[in-house]
This record gives sequence, C-alpha cells and structure tokens, in this order.
Amino acid sequence: MAQLFPPSSNSIVKAAFAAGALVLCLAVWVAYRVERTTYFTKAGVACEQPVPFSHKHHVSGLGIDCRYCHVSAEDSSFAGLPPTRTCMTCHSQVWTQAQMLAAVRRSAETGQAIAWTRVDRLPDYVYFDHSIHVRKGVACQTCHGRVQRMPLTWRGYPFPFHMKDCLACHRHPERFPREDAELARLSRGFPPGERGHAAALAEHVRLLTDCYTCHR
Ligand code: HEC
Ligand code: HEC
Ligand code: HEC
Ligand code: HEC
Ligand code: HEC
Repeated sequence: MAQLFPPSSNSIVKAAFAAGALVLCLAVWVAYRVERTTYFTKAGVACEQPVPFSHKHHVSGLGIDCRYCHVSAEDSSFAGLPPTRTCMTCHSQVWTQAQMLAAVRRSAETGQAIAWTRVDRLPDYVYFDHSIHVRKGVACQTCHGRVQRMPLTWRGYPFPFHMKDCLACHRHPERFPREDAELARLSRGFPPGERGHAAALAEHVRLLTDCYTCHR
C-alpha cells in the first residue's frame, strides 16, 4: 500500500504530542500555584462582618486575653466564638448608643446569635483539635497570625491551613516558636544527655504525620 504520510511524520506527531503534554502539565502547575496565592486562600484579606469587631482595639488596646472570648480553646477541639452576653458585660455600660453596636444590642434583645462570617475553616474531612495544640504551648499567633493587630479579622499568615502547613510543623515542631519552656529547650536542640527524650519525641511526632491523625 502506498504510504499517505512520509515516515518522518511519525516523529512529528510524537513531538506534537510531547509538546501538548508539556503545555498541559505547565497549565496544571500554573493553576495549582494560582490556587495557592492569597487571592484564593484569602490570607490577609479582611472578612465582612455584621459588626466591625476589632481585635486590634480589644486585644492590643484594652488588653483583653484571647481566652476571655474564645473560652474553649484550651479545653476542647473548638476555640468557639463569644456569645453576645460576653460583649454585653462591657457594652451594656460603654458605647451603649453606638450605631456600630446596633446589631449587638439587637442580638442581646432577641437572643439570636450574631451571624459572624467564619474566617478559618477546614474541610469536613480534616480532624483538628485546639486543646492539644494550645496545651502544648503552640501560640494562637503561630497559626492565626498577629490577630491582636487586626482591625478586622483575616486569615493569618503564615497559615492558610493547607495540608503542607500542618505537616511542616508536625515534621519539624522544633522549627516553630512555642510559648513554653519545653519548646525553648527544643528550639536550642537537645543536650547530649537527653537523646532518649529526643528519640521518643521524634517517634511521637512521626506518628502525627500518619494520615489517620488528621483524616479519621
Ligand atoms: C472588656 C470590655 C469589652 C468587651 C468584653 C467588649 N468590648 Fe467592644 N469595646 C470596648 C470599649 C471600651 C470600646 C471603646 C474603645 C474605644 O474607642 O476606646 C469598644 C468598642 C467596640 C466597637 C467600636 C469599634 C471599635 O473597635 O472601636 C465595637 C464594634 C465593639 N466594641 C464590639 C464588641 C463586640 C462584638 C464584643 C463581643 C464579642 C465586644 N465589643 C466586647 C470594650 C469591650
Ligand atoms: C472581646 C472578645 C475577643 C477577644 C479578646 C479576642 N477575640 Fe477573636 N474573635 C472575637 C469575635 C467577636 C470574632 C468573630 C468576628 C471576627 O472574625 O472578627 C473573633 C474571631 C476570631 C478568629 C477568626 C475565627 C473564624 O474562623 O471565624 C480568630 C482566629 C480569633 N478570633 C483569634 C483570636 C486571638 C488569637 C485572640 C487573642 C490575641 C482573640 N481572638 C481575642 C472576639 C474576641
Ligand atoms: C495549630 C494551629 C492552631 C492554633 C495553635 C490555634 N488555632 Fe485556632 N484554628 C485553627 C484551625 C485549623 C481552625 C479551623 C478549624 C476548623 O475549621 O475545624 C481554627 C479555628 C479557630 C476559631 C474559629 C472557631 C473554631 O473554634 O473553629 C477561633 C475563634 C480560633 N481558632 C481561635 C484560636 C485561639 C484564641 C487560639 C489560641 C488560644 C488558637 N485559635 C490556636 C488552628 C489553630
Ligand atoms: C506549629 C506547630 C503545629 C501546627 C502548625 C499544627 N500542629 Fe497539630 N500538633 C502539634 C503538636 C505539638 C501536637 C501534639 C503532639 C504531642 O502529642 O506531643 C499536635 C497534635 C495534633 C493532633 C493530634 C491530636 C490527638 O488527639 O491526638 C492532630 C489531629 C493535629 N495536631 C492536627 C493538626 C492539623 C489538622 C493542623 C493544620 C490545620 C495542625 N495540626 C497544625 C503542632 C502543630
Ligand atoms: C497534620 C494533619 C494532616 C495529616 C497528617 C495528613 N493530612 Fe491530608 N489534609 C490535611 C488538611 C488540613 C487538608 C485540607 C487542605 C486544604 O483545605 O487545602 C488535607 C487535605 C488532604 C487531601 C485533599 C487534597 C489536598 O491536598 O488538599 C488529601 C487527598 C489528603 N489530605 C490525603 C492525605 C494522606 C494520604 C495523608 C497521609 C500520607 C494525609 N493526608 C495526612 C491535613 C493532614
């Protein structure tokens, strides 16, 4: 049979396919990078809220502790958002007429909770627990950024909570600042006498990178 195409066309087709595959990979890679930019992760972008609540004002200005409002961060998996009565302990006394607080007063009258827009949210298939982190001395700011400086709350740097961000610390917790003495020691490395402890901890942390730790 007469050949319709010269033999060289075979390699042209192959080259075309290879180029196509390359372009496709590049496109997927670009899409992946873009999806991880702050435009999509919303890190650093302030959320619209029904009340313009300012952490900057209440934490840095007035010196209120995080746990005064997020009471369960230390004892349960949820940090929790404060009920309206927490706000009213002060706002039944101060700024009682402020327009900005109208929604807070309405909520106190009707008993209907303020519908805060959630800032940080993991997909349902991820298990997370605040208490274990807080009790081990991981600072709120390590995961949420400098909340005390935020006039409106945004997703804090450096954690938009992708899997790799959780794993970065679970693999190398010594690289992340913690509040307690244990960490101070960890971050300086283990003295020779404490190798046993280091090995035990390394083993424990390795376990925390098992899929089951976060996907149960
Ligand atoms: C310990 C007392 C206290 C608590 C609790 C408190 N506030 Fe305030 N808040 C203040 C004071 C004082 C001001 C006035 C700040 C100023 O201008 O000096 C204020 C101001 C505000 C303002 C005006 C905007 C601003 O930040 O200046 C809003 C809105 C507000 N608070 C919302 C809330 C909400 C919502 C809660 C509950 C989650 C709450 N506050 C809990 C004391 C408190
Ligand atoms: C006076 C009460 C109050 C104090 C004190 C306070 N918060 Fe909040 N926090 C709120 C309220 C109200 C919201 C919901 C509105 C918003 O997102 O700004 C909130 C939201 C948040 C969120 C976003 C939660 C989400 O997913 O929607 C984080 C994270 C947070 N707070 C961390 C902190 C940290 C860290 C501190 C201490 C440095 C702190 N808060 C102190 C009242 C408080
Ligand atoms: C190890 C990282 C980490 C630390 C430390 C941490 N958080 Fe969170 N926080 C998260 C993650 C992840 C979420 C989203 C949870 C979800 O959607 O299930 C979250 C959610 C929240 C929320 C929204 C309500 C809720 O409970 O889901 C608040 C408020 C909050 N954190 C406050 C705090 C405060 C206050 C501290 C310090 C006492 C703190 N966090 C420490 C990672 C952390
Ligand atoms: C800055 C460090 C740090 C970050 C970031 C961090 N973790 Fe952890 N995590 C820890 C430490 C420390 C422990 C406790 C280890 C131990 O038991 O000694 C822990 C323990 C856990 C546990 C085990 C709880 C249990 O009941 O056994 C889970 C689940 C977990 N982390 C999920 C997450 C998820 C999901 C994220 C990301 C959203 C995350 N962690 C981010 C440091 C971190
Ligand atoms: C320390 C906690 C943690 C561990 C351990 C962990 N994951 Fe995840 N994983 C997450 C978080 C958080 C997300 C959500 C990421 C997001 O929303 O972008 C996630 C998302 C995923 C997804 C959805 C796609 C993606 O990447 O966003 C897959 C698939 C997945 N994990 C598989 C695994 C497997 C397989 C393992 C074991 C090798 C594992 N994970 C271990 C925290 C963890």
